[in-house]
Amino acid sequence: MAKSPETEHPNKAFGWAAKDKSGVLSPFHFSRRDNGDNDVTVKILYCGVCHTDLHTIKNDWGFSYYPVVPGHEIVGIATKVGKNVTKFREGDRVGVGVITGSCQSCESCNQDLENYCPQMSFTYNSIGSDGTKTYGGYSESIVVDQRFVLQFPEGLPSDSGAPLLCAGITVYSPMKYYGMTEPGKHLGVAGLGGLGHVAVKIGKAFGLKVTVISSSPSKEDEAINRLGADSFLVSSDPQKMKAAIGTMDYIIDTVSAVHALFPLLGLLKVNGKLVTLGLPEKPLELPIFPLVLGRKMVGGSDIGGMKETQEMLEFCAKHNITADIELIKMDEINTAMERLAKSDVRYRFVIDVANSLSPP
Ligand SMILES: NC(=O)c1ccc[n+]([C@@H]2O[C@H](COP(=O)([O-])OP(=O)(O)OC[C@H]3O[C@@H](n4cnc5c(N)ncnc54)[C@H](OP(=O)(O)O)[C@@H]3O)[C@@H](O)[C@H]2O)c1
Ligand SMILES: [Zn+2]
Ligand SMILES: [Zn+2]
Repeated sequence: MAKSPETEHPNKAFGWAAKDKSGVLSPFHFSRRDNGDNDVTVKILYCGVCHTDLHTIKNDWGFSYYPVVPGHEIVGIATKVGKNVTKFREGDRVGVGVITGSCQSCESCNQDLENYCPQMSFTYNSIGSDGTKTYGGYSESIVVDQRFVLQFPEGLPSDSGAPLLCAGITVYSPMKYYGMTEPGKHLGVAGLGGLGHVAVKIGKAFGLKVTVISSSPSKEDEAINRLGADSFLVSSDPQKMKAAIGTMDYIIDTVSAVHALFPLLGLLKVNGKLVTLGLPEKPLELPIFPLVLGRKMVGGSDIGGMKETQEMLEFCAKHNITADIELIKMDEINTAMERLAKSDVRYRFVIDVANSLSPP
């Protein structure tokens, strides 16, 4: 018989979990494994709130396994390191992102692409390498194999730097892989949320011209004056969308809901590339004519490997890139989730875990 979350491991742990698909989060007692020889125990300071957390607590994709303690944008302090741990010492500031395990020997793992390992385990709602269920960063601490722990660069603030661990790497990796970094080229960013606003900043750091394509006219002023975008297109404005046809070299699509690709493909020049990162609960329709007639390409991408995630953190520290955040207390999470569902966040909620999570 499976052990209960309270008794699976020797160490008591506390966090907030969704217990069913209502997605309502509430206090939850569980346990964490002992710190093994290759492990780092992290006391969690901050955790970002990704739309994937929202999809998962609501069971949008049909594979949520309750209770779910979400959270995969974790910054904290290493409080214990195993005897084989070489990269970290107690007291180091560290990051943990979307994945916390992989086979470490397949073709993907050998190419530093643990994110594409068939046995990869997610930080939450997954089965870890020890065969037990994983629980994420809406909790006081986490135990992680050193391969999946990041050094958090000195220049990055812990709170506004936390979202880089998912949002940052998710937009950085495809821009590098698909060659979307040539200075002077024109990048469209569809959806100005957590991923989208970091894509604007990283795009500018690569020297691109950046246009936001948004369903929210109210975000125009901030997109240009605060985030540094060069222009802003409201996707529901037919005249402006028409005027922008054939002007973009690349598009990063971060929209979290089902939406039409046809208008986005129309914005691309011949040979243009569109990378879809959003994970709506239903498939998108792929219009073939604009692809064929313009030799255009549609691709996807899933976060990034550990080596590239470390590289992205250094890149962001060097270019002063952080997320624009709304810092919340743990008990404000349910309201934050309601606002996230309405695209009403500027531009990432981050939970002040260390100062607001205490067992009742
Ligand atoms: N591929 C990966 O590795 C990866 C990693 C992380 C997250 N994700 C997925 O990426 C998506 C975005 O995540 P996020 O955290 O950035 O979410 P987010 O902060 O909620 O941003 C998504 C944005 O999409 C736009 N949007 C939402 N609903 C829309 C609708 N019905 N029609 C048109 N636009 C809409 C909104 O931007 P505007 O207001 O500007 O229109 C919204 O701010 C989610 O599906 C998430 O699960 C994928
Ligand atoms: Zn995420
Ligand atoms: Zn592997």
